[in-house]
Amino acid sequence: MNSIFTRRSIREYDSRPVEPEKVDKILRAGMQAPSAMNRQPWEFLVVTNPEMIQTIAALSPYGKPAARAPMVLVPMVNLQTAGEKNRFWVQDLSASVQNILLQIAEEGLGGCWMGIYPDEDRTKKLHDALGLPEQVLPFALISIGHGLQENRFVDRFVPENVHYETY
Ligand SMILES: Cc1cc2nc3c(=O)[nH]c(=O)nc-3n(C[C@H](O)[C@H](O)[C@H](O)COP(=O)(O)O)c2cc1C
Repeated sequence: MNSIFTRRSIREYDSRPVEPEKVDKILRAGMQAPSAMNRQPWEFLVVTNPEMIQTIAALSPYGKPAARAPMVLVPMVNLQTAGEKNRFWVQDLSASVQNILLQIAEEGLGGCWMGIYPDEDRTKKLHDALGLPEQVLPFALISIGHGLQENRFVDRFVPENVHYETY
């Protein structure tokens, strides 16, 4: 659980590819997340093609970390799997992304979460660029690589933000 405390957004990487066995563990961690009604509405696209990485990185104004990475993971929601009236899928996908980021750190790698959904422009452009079916939406971009910066502890505990019994 140390990676909860040491995980950082790592935005620069060396040129080494990510080892397949590490990718497997990262994907397994993503699918291990809790989800409303245990629907597990997530799917993942693993992108290593350099041209495709440049294309998708350019679709977010804050997508630079993706442009520098040897691998980009696109967590996606399948709205059919989530269920028509289920709006909790955003939380399901967020939990999955956090698991993925923690496993990235655990594997000694660096990663960064780049927001796509609910920004309508970014979501639609990425959906179309990836040629996704209508019921599948891209949720985020996660860049992964051997980081040029270290994961390291930053203390964020703010006692004033904790309220006991009453606000
Ligand atoms: C929903 C979400 C969207 C984010 N989008 C971006 C992004 O587009 N580009 C980026 O470089 N970082 C992005 N980040 C990373 C945050 O900037 C980062 O988590 C924050 O500055 C705290 O730093 P840390 O991750 O090192 O603890 C995003 C983080 C979250 C949770």
